[in-house]
Amino acid sequence: MLHFVLVSFVFFTSIRDGCARKGVTSSFVRSEWPSVDIPLDHEAFAVPNGHNAPQQVHITQGDYEGRAVIVSWVTPDEPGSSHVQFGTSEEKFHASAKGTVSNYTLGEYKSGYIHHCLVEGLEHSTKYYYRIGSGDSSREFWFETPPKVEPDVPYKFGIIGDLGQTFNSLSTLEHYMESKAQTVLFVGDLSYADRYKYSDVGLRWDTWGRFVEKSTAYQPWIWNTGNHEIEYFPYMGEVVPFKSYLQRYTTPYLASNSSSPLWYAIRRASAHIIVLSSYSPYVKYTPQYKWLAEELTRVDREKTPWLIVLMHVPIYNSNEAHYMEGESMRVVFESWFIKYKVDVIFAGHVHAYERSYRVSNTDYNITSGMRYPVADKSAPVYITVGDGGNQEGLASRFRDPQPEYSAYREASYGHSTLEIKNRTHAIYHWNRNDDGKKVSTDSFILHNQYWGNNRRRRKLKHFLLKVIEEVASS
Ligand SMILES: *[C@@H]1O[C@H](CO)[C@@H](O)[C@H](O)[C@H]1NC(C)=O
Ligand SMILES: *[C@@H]1O[C@H](CO)[C@@H](O)[C@H](O)[C@H]1NC(C)=O
Ligand SMILES: *[C@@H]1O[C@H](CO)[C@@H](O)[C@H](O)[C@H]1NC(C)=O
Ligand SMILES: *[C@@H]1O[C@H](CO)[C@@H](O)[C@H](O)[C@H]1NC(C)=O
Ligand SMILES: [Fe+2]
Repeated sequence: MLHFVLVSFVFFTSIRDGCARKGVTSSFVRSEWPSVDIPLDHEAFAVPNGHNAPQQVHITQGDYEGRAVIVSWVTPDEPGSSHVQFGTSEEKFHASAKGTVSNYTLGEYKSGYIHHCLVEGLEHSTKYYYRIGSGDSSREFWFETPPKVEPDVPYKFGIIGDLGQTFNSLSTLEHYMESKAQTVLFVGDLSYADRYKYSDVGLRWDTWGRFVEKSTAYQPWIWNTGNHEIEYFPYMGEVVPFKSYLQRYTTPYLASNSSSPLWYAIRRASAHIIVLSSYSPYVKYTPQYKWLAEELTRVDREKTPWLIVLMHVPIYNSNEAHYMEGESMRVVFESWFIKYKVDVIFAGHVHAYERSYRVSNTDYNITSGMRYPVADKSAPVYITVGDGGNQEGLASRFRDPQPEYSAYREASYGHSTLEIKNRTHAIYHWNRNDDGKKVSTDSFILHNQYWGNNRRRRKLKHFLLKVIEEVASS
């Protein structure tokens, strides 16, 4: 009897947490626009007016806690000024910071002058205006700093992956901007410029920088790399991985004591965000492995209740595309994700949407014989949002039958939002691009793994005491 009551209690609580066991494969088939890149002369890639006017403006968090921003941009004609003027009221820039400028070649392609400028010592929850460039060609933008790192501060993140530069990408970007989220967690594969050859690779990095500027100049995008950033081009003598990406996109990796811009962590509002590189060594003894082991001990759930991990290659995904490519990272890191109660892991790579239940497969090793993921309340939710809309098109073939761990899957373009309410609750949405209109499709309440579980444990204890009393008195 006690056993029965217990089992039904556990079953009931898991349903309440959005864990009903039957997954959904959505039959919705999006009538997509052709997966071709927007032509070069399209206004989405418009070059700003004026001699040497700054273009491809983008910002990212510049420190561990959210009181610094890195402003980056490209000047096409000459190096120009690397200064950012900034202040808290429009047109009154009382402070200034000096950045660096560099240029690079990729085959025959010669880049413009790439500026990165760290703007630090900012106040929390403050709107800053900033100006870059000089004279008639200068340009002004603004951003808002996040609230101080505290456990109950609300914050809204957007999650975008595998964006590219097609009309579907544009639709995703515009829908994302309507969501009023405050920061993008980007899960890799930015421009898809590597699909071009020779000088066109650099050219398509430039168009992508201009394409996303309407968002990236005003709010931080937290960058992560994918396979399309590797750019291994022996045919034109370019064999050093991530060259274009590392020149153009910076990350605050030193602030989390990482030894590489490709993996790092930040704290923002009530979230601790860990960025992992699927295409850098991560097995035991490698720098990334050692760094993650240390970073996980720095996570303080009393300060940042939400622990979010970003990677490019999904660990749980049942699409035919890139099937099991994430398995090697699962073997190395899954037990840590469970031990440290990661709330949610976002990945891209597969060009379709999929969400898992809380599952793990840590019992599986080459002698155990156990080889199927099992429900695991301590495990993260795994979400794949590689559906930004790039030129490779959708990955529409899912494995059949849908595995038990898969909660929802659909081959449509879109983006996600994660709206943190307080230390226990966050509201998650996946928003499908439905032929130009934004449609919220998959949504659920994400209960915090650290605070939610403590609460549940107390409830369970209370419940068991009552049952034992009842059994004893009957
Ligand atoms: C950078 O630009 C300068 C001209 O300002 C040029 O002389 C130099 O070759 C460029 N370097 C690279 C790596 O393209
Ligand atoms: C990084 O290391 C330095 C020196 O050991 C230390 O002072 C700093 O607190 C560390 N940063 C983090 C985020 O742990
Ligand atoms: C592998 O599985 C066996 C059998 O279940 C277990 O005894 C052993 O501890 C496992 N090894 C590791 C490294 O997990
Ligand atoms: C946290 O947010 C949820 C959803 O908005 C709400 O129901 C709950 O009462 C909040 N908890 C606290 C402690 O404020
Ligand atoms: Fe990818």
